[in-house]
Amino acid sequence: MDKTLKISKIKDGTVIDHIDAGKALKVLNILGIDESNSISIGIRVMSGKIGYKDVIKIENKFLEKIELDKIALIANRATISIIKNYEIIEKFSLDMPETFKGIVKCDNQNCITNAGEPVRSEFSTVETNPLTIKCIYCKKEMSGDEILRNI
Ligand code: CTP
Ligand code: ZN
Repeated sequence: MDKTLKISKIKDGTVIDHIDAGKALKVLNILGIDESNSISIGIRVMSGKIGYKDVIKIENKFLEKIELDKIALIANRATISIIKNYEIIEKFSLDMPETFKGIVKCDNQNCITNAGEPVRSEFSTVETNPLTIKCIYCKKEMSGDEILRNI
């Protein structure tokens, strides 16, 4: 008896693979998925490379740069495969952006970006592993859960 259960291949869409185990739901959350997308999610599935991983397959969705940047904030080891007619037409790993504009809310309540002024949040990447970002206005540094809470 074959005891392995595999997530089906998709015809057209995007596969987000090698997500750190347990982060898939957070990734889905920030992607703005609605009822029109067919989605398969594997949480804590075995992976040769990193032990356990999460994987998300979204049919008929092709990600924009801002969506890729958001994924990089949550799971910077993820790989993206773009599928057309069952074939992988593009496969890449995420680059950590040098700046994040309008994605993360500054955790400093006194920051100009939280004062009701029309100032969009902006962070620069200080360190990639573990990820640390710094508000360009108030210089507040954020990492780990602090970032996740503010996406
Ligand atoms: N995939 C899919 N539907 C397709 C083609 C590929 O869902 N029509 C998925 C695979 O299941 C895999 C990812 O896209 O999760 C990348 O495919 P592939 O490069 O063939 O897989 P691996 O060789 O396992 O990749 P890696 O070495 O990156 O783990
Ligand atoms: Zn700030």
